[in-house]
Amino acid sequence: MTQAKIHVLATGGTIAGRAGSPVRRDYRPGQIGIEEFIARIESFGLDARLTGSQIANIGSEDIDMTVWRELHATALAAIENPECDGIVITHGTDTAEETALLLDQTLPTHKPVVLVGAMRPADAVGSDGMRNFANAVVVARDREAAGRGVLVVMGDLVHAARDVRKAVTTGTKAFRSFPRGPIAAVTPTSLEWFAEPWRPAQEARYPLPDELPPVAIVHACAAADVELVALLVRHGTRGIVLAGMGEGNAPRRLRDALADAVRAGVPVVRSSRVDEGLVDREPEDDNAGFVAARALGPAKARILLQLLLANGITDPAAIQAAFQRR
Ligand code: DGL
Repeated sequence: MTQAKIHVLATGGTIAGRAGSPVRRDYRPGQIGIEEFIARIESFGLDARLTGSQIANIGSEDIDMTVWRELHATALAAIENPECDGIVITHGTDTAEETALLLDQTLPTHKPVVLVGAMRPADAVGSDGMRNFANAVVVARDREAAGRGVLVVMGDLVHAARDVRKAVTTGTKAFRSFPRGPIAAVTPTSLEWFAEPWRPAQEARYPLPDELPPVAIVHACAAADVELVALLVRHGTRGIVLAGMGEGNAPRRLRDALADAVRAGVPVVRSSRVDEGLVDREPEDDNAGFVAARALGPAKARILLQLLLANGITDPAAIQAAFQRR
């Protein structure tokens, strides 16, 4: 078997972070460059040849459209390059789910694209970065990893972009997947898929636009201040995602304010502030013109709504259809 060729796109995050001491609490993300990553992983003797591009070296809370555009262009070029078998993207964990979904919807599915991060900096005692990175290479070199959209590898598990979210603030098992759960288990010496690919050889669902339109997240809470919704509409928001209670619920007055927003031409997607579970359509959605976010939590629902709006998809039924897709 010929050695798999993996292209690594580095963006920073804790996986590239250093504290200067194995036990220090504060640290700086985005300190280690791509050459050092590649040199370290090559010393492990994994069956893969790595090349790299340094896209950025930042904490992922600062990721923006400029980085996303370059990440997308470089990933697409690697996918189209017959010399490349798979792509690994190193990324901070805080917004990994958002970048994963954005790329999931805007890249073809012909080759594995794997996002990986770490919860502990590289020089911390018990650091998880190099293990996660080795696991990501194991996934990216496997042909079976294609046809599942963008994948996220953390804590010896493989997650699909639609399902994954950072659900725990600290510790190495911080990522969870709903509703399907992780789709494979991985170690540096093993990989077991739990099901068949469901998006084989598909083109990108949407082109990546130059800019994403403003979409706000409104967090539902008891006795919520509903004036915010009208302010957002006046301020020019193009869409609103409700981080609702339970199954996308909200106080009556907030629902009414959101229905007013829809009447003013601002699409509203009902998601949930609860981590686990789907938000399904309910009868009121038909009258109010709301969309149910299904599996997507607020952060990812916002990304998908931005993508749809940027691509001219504004009709609630068409938006709903997009949220139904796996
Ligand atoms: N600021 C965070 C980020 O880059 C560091 C956390 C992490 O990478 O785990 O997302």
